[in-house]
Amino acid sequence: MRYVHRFVPPASEPSGRALLLLHGTGGDEEDLLPLAPMLDPGAAVVSPRGDVLENGMPRFFRRLREGVFDEADLRVRAQALAEFVGEARDAYGLGPMTAVGFSNGANMASAVLLLHPGTLSEAILFAPMVPVEPDPLPDLAGAPVFLGAGRADPLVPMAEAERLAALLERCRADVTLRWHPGGHALPASLVAAARDWLRGGPA
Ligand code: MLT
Repeated sequence: MRYVHRFVPPASEPSGRALLLLHGTGGDEEDLLPLAPMLDPGAAVVSPRGDVLENGMPRFFRRLREGVFDEADLRVRAQALAEFVGEARDAYGLGPMTAVGFSNGANMASAVLLLHPGTLSEAILFAPMVPVEPDPLPDLAGAPVFLGAGRADPLVPMAEAERLAALLERCRADVTLRWHPGGHALPASLVAAARDWLRGGPA
């Protein structure tokens, strides 16, 4: 398959869900693995490593500078990731795929949602930005999306996370936006909120 990745079968009774873990800049396929059993111990896990290197740091698409993306590259890489999702589904016999991304990984997950609707059934986006604004917008028809961001995030201003939430709502996604008081980070309280949201409880 086209990405170096880890596949991990469900840790407990299978829930039928597969989690697609997408790390942040400078991470790799190991980074988010500890999150999976916290979110859904019954989920299978696919965790690819971003195939773009920025000063040796893996990412999922190129950027021109901090917060400014190379849209042509983003589109090519989003298509490659969407194809990888299909390959992984066939190779490992997986069902619906829930993306779980942090920072650059969240931006890639949003790009796949917006450019390749139908590839992901739901998404958890931690510290996300607007990756691209397709015209026309896709119809995400009720797709559940959890956004979690920090009120003091120096990389993702609150208005940016709110802009992504509004964009996804215009695509008819079912958006939940949660804030934590910190910065560009993934506190346990936010992971717990995402877990409750996945279980259909209070987020
Ligand atoms: C991005 O490049 O996707 C965002 O700026 C977040 C990050 O630093 O990875």
